[in-house]
Amino acid sequence: MNLPPFRIEQYYERHEFTTRYMVSSSDCESWTLQKLLSLEPDALDRLLAIRCGYTESRGAPELRRAIAATYQTIDADEVVVTTCAEEAIFLVYHALLGPDDHAVIETPCYESALQLARSTGAAVGAWHRVLADGWAHDLDALGHLLQPSTRVLYINQPHNPTGTLMSRSTFDRVAGLAQELRLTLFSDEVYRGLEHDPADRLPAACDRDQHAVSLGSVSKSYGLPGLRIGWIASHDETLRRKVIDLKHYTTICASAPSEELSALALRHGSELLARNCGIIRRNLGLLDEFLGRHADTFKWVRPTAGPIGFPRTTGVGDVDGFCERLAAAGVLLLPGSVYDEPDHVRVGFGRANLPEALAVLEEALTG
Ligand SMILES: Cc1ncc(COP(=O)(O)O)c(C=O)c1O
Repeated sequence: MNLPPFRIEQYYERHEFTTRYMVSSSDCESWTLQKLLSLEPDALDRLLAIRCGYTESRGAPELRRAIAATYQTIDADEVVVTTCAEEAIFLVYHALLGPDDHAVIETPCYESALQLARSTGAAVGAWHRVLADGWAHDLDALGHLLQPSTRVLYINQPHNPTGTLMSRSTFDRVAGLAQELRLTLFSDEVYRGLEHDPADRLPAACDRDQHAVSLGSVSKSYGLPGLRIGWIASHDETLRRKVIDLKHYTTICASAPSEELSALALRHGSELLARNCGIIRRNLGLLDEFLGRHADTFKWVRPTAGPIGFPRTTGVGDVDGFCERLAAAGVLLLPGSVYDEPDHVRVGFGRANLPEALAVLEEALTG
């Protein structure tokens, strides 16, 4: 298996823990363990009573029940818990793809969605979206990319890095196409629940189609990436079996304390989502004003879902150098080169300290 460096993660490895303000994070404000444990009166006692042994490879039953409750048609038995969404991406691709297969991936994207598909030896086509079209989904282009050997179509809605969301009719056509062609719709829904207008929320792919796979995580919408818990949900038993068989070679099972804490968080999921949506809505207003004041530098399609956006920059020279200078000044933007979009930067607005961060960014841009 041949994997190139994961540029997004390399960038964060270098800067995330040394730069004062994160203005590019794709997650939301995290909760402390203390706050999480205050959600239920006996939560601390239950945590302290956990035996630090292996758990079920499919995931602890209580967690699978809490995850299943976030879908309309999924039972606890139709969930496989993973050690974060990243592991699930690896497992699903390697369960479904091999050198004779073809996959189509929506781009720009979280890099592993593309590289882990390639790592199976499969041929990979990019369903590419561009700012000039308002990040529209070109269904004709998708039709041309699909081949008889296409086994997987990966989409990510709400979308990293643009913060946009497919319309319901586009989603229905994409899901319909996958069904018609008997390919697996692999739907990365790690930002689901952060639609700025809840009426825009798309159905979970696993609720719409027997063979579709929904990818979830406590990392993004719920703001708990330190727990490293993700999952897949699908009615497709054969696929779930293959994923578990592969998981025996990666992690065997997830961390027992993290499973307990994730189940606790998901039982109170609407509270966590409401808090994060509140932060996002407030911060988006501040960013609107900020980008309005710097319209010569940043131009974006205003995000409609999730805590990130992907403006194009003008007049800043080399964007990598621009971001390095800003990092040295204390604010971290993510250069678009890590998505092969070198004229863009990713901004993140899911953190509570965005007002202070924007003041430092303003100073760095104008000072
Ligand atoms: C679209 C998308 N999918 C999956 C992941 C991986 O999430 P996790 O932290 O649960 O591994 C990320 C992380 O940034 C992401 O943006």
